[in-house]
Amino acid sequence: MQRELELRLGDELSEVVKRGPAPAERAATSLPVGVYTDADRHRRELASIAAHPAALVASTEVASPGDYVTVDAGRTSIIVTRDRDGQVHAMRNVCAHRGATVVTSESGSGRILSCGFHGWSYELDGSLRSVADASLFSNTPCTRGLQTLPCEERHGIVWVTADPTAPERSVREWLGDDVDALLTELGLGEMTRHASTEYDLGCNWKLLTDGFLEIYHLKYLHRNSIAPYFPANTTKVSRSGDHFVNWLPKNRLVKQLTEVDRDDWEVLAHLTGAIVLIPGTVIQWQAGHVELFSLRPHPTDPSRTTCRLTMLVPGDRADETELWDRNWERVCVTIPDEDFAAAVDVQRNIDAGAVSELQIGANEHALCDHLAAVDRLGTGVGVGCDPDDPVAFFACQGAQTFGAGLGGEEAGVGNRSQ
Ligand code: FES
Ligand SMILES: [Fe+2]
Repeated sequence: MQRELELRLGDELSEVVKRGPAPAERAATSLPVGVYTDADRHRRELASIAAHPAALVASTEVASPGDYVTVDAGRTSIIVTRDRDGQVHAMRNVCAHRGATVVTSESGSGRILSCGFHGWSYELDGSLRSVADASLFSNTPCTRGLQTLPCEERHGIVWVTADPTAPERSVREWLGDDVDALLTELGLGEMTRHASTEYDLGCNWKLLTDGFLEIYHLKYLHRNSIAPYFPANTTKVSRSGDHFVNWLPKNRLVKQLTEVDRDDWEVLAHLTGAIVLIPGTVIQWQAGHVELFSLRPHPTDPSRTTCRLTMLVPGDRADETELWDRNWERVCVTIPDEDFAAAVDVQRNIDAGAVSELQIGANEHALCDHLAAVDRLGTGVGVGCDPDDPVAFFACQGAQTFGAGLGGEEAGVGNRSQ
């Protein structure tokens, strides 16, 4: 199945390479910086993020019955467990008695979850197991357990919807058939966690997703790190529903596609790709392994985001630790020191009032389409084309100029008309 994907991507990227970057055929657009600072917008986006599945942890972080992981999500923490039957659960990590945090460690394993305040205990599925000194506490039985959250294990990831009142939707339904199939073909379900870390960043979450949606910056921002491995301005961006996929061939792949027989192509080994899932999850394919970015905006401050970064590697090659350690080291330098630092720098200048609008080029158009899609999620309706509302007008323009569906309209950078 992966071979079919390799050849399909190889064919599509051959076309992009053949065409090469072309001059822009549309003007750059102005983007008011309010999209990164407005408090009302931030509240709407937080609600959207809470109402959709988020990649909270890798399945292998709760590999065995009794395993649990806690993750800070907004103002409180969420606990993910695996019960004795192998089923994964997610709960608010908040005691049903008087609201203490039940599990205070980041991860561990046990038969029950117990609260340190007054000793109440819970089963691994969050149901109440026992009330300490129950006969003294109440003359009628207490039954309320931890607040459970919609949770599903798919593609080697535990997806949690933080808002328990959100409309029920399966991960497959949310991903859509094309992205779901792509994650299957990439073999995410057979991957295991190698390492993870968290960053508290001084920028809006969308400045981070923006960086995955254009590669205009690659040859400048990454000139001392990864730029020499990639041809400049060569990318294939496509869209599936409100999700985006951005494939970047490496120089070695470009050479193969032009010089080597199609049957001998090794595409996935020389390819980087960002799968930007709306809202707030990015899965980055890195020539054989995956980096998972889970973005959690600050509950009140639009200028702050926590990013949990997890590296997933093929389960059957998990013991190649030296190789994965080297890759992890590289990721932990390039991403925070270059991409994250640039986003924080931009936010600082925006917050200082030093810039009121940004200019978005034709070669950065996917960034606009993503913003428009985020708008639609937040309002539940399409963005109106109101010329008096520059953000909405801008977003609508972006939405109209981008094709629908993977394998639909696509573009090399600066190459939109082809
Ligand atoms: S708050 Fe948890 S047992 Fe009292
Ligand atoms: Fe980058």
